[in-house]
Amino acid sequence: METITLALSKGRIFEETVPLLAAAGITPTCDPEASRQLIISTNLPHVRLLIVRATDVPTYVQYGGADLGIAGKDVLLEHGGEGLYQLLDLGIARCRLCVAVPRTFDYAQAVRLGSRIRVATKYLKSARAHFAAKGVHVDLIKLYGSMELAPLVGLADAIVDLVSTGATLRANGLVEVETIAAISSRLVVNQAALKVKRALLQPLIDVFEEKSRDRI
Ligand code: PRP
Repeated sequence: METITLALSKGRIFEETVPLLAAAGITPTCDPEASRQLIISTNLPHVRLLIVRATDVPTYVQYGGADLGIAGKDVLLEHGGEGLYQLLDLGIARCRLCVAVPRTFDYAQAVRLGSRIRVATKYLKSARAHFAAKGVHVDLIKLYGSMELAPLVGLADAIVDLVSTGATLRANGLVEVETIAAISSRLVVNQAALKVKRALLQPLIDVFEEKSRDRI
């Protein structure tokens, strides 16, 4: 039997994908928050979900470990998109990729004076491209999470990170100074799978497209 494998991460992306799956008549058999299972079956015997780290979704799809994936634009920008087609902006898990600094740091002045700014981020590619385009000199420090901490302990002057409600920035005395990109989650597909399994995948893609149309 031909199968459909969809890779996605737990948390906000999974929660906001459940209604899209429901519209296609697909119900996961368990909740990844409550289960340690990494392959989640659904009510449809030929459809299964892979629960992977958000940053690994494009890799699973690129190498054919999954036919389809749902990943944030932030993750896709860092991955580069090789071997994938970005089919749809699903309009879910919206946030923005921003530059933020401590309230006490005069970012505009540092830029004006041409100072080197130390920036902590896990988004090296996006940060490098952003500051290069603005002609701002930066030293980038790669972190894997809790970026907001870096300026508080003198590891960096600024961070590049995702901001949704702004609560994490506020709680750590940081302010947004630039928006790099608006972020939302995209449906990506393995290029070979789209050719070979088009008849099976297209109805699901069509439902996702219809459901996301009003969101974007
Ligand atoms: C993200 C992001 C910020 C926070 C922003 O982290 O890195 O820390 O959410 O959200 P807010 O503006 O609503 O406060 P997440 O909790 O996803 O964990 P991560 O550090 O592993 O990415």
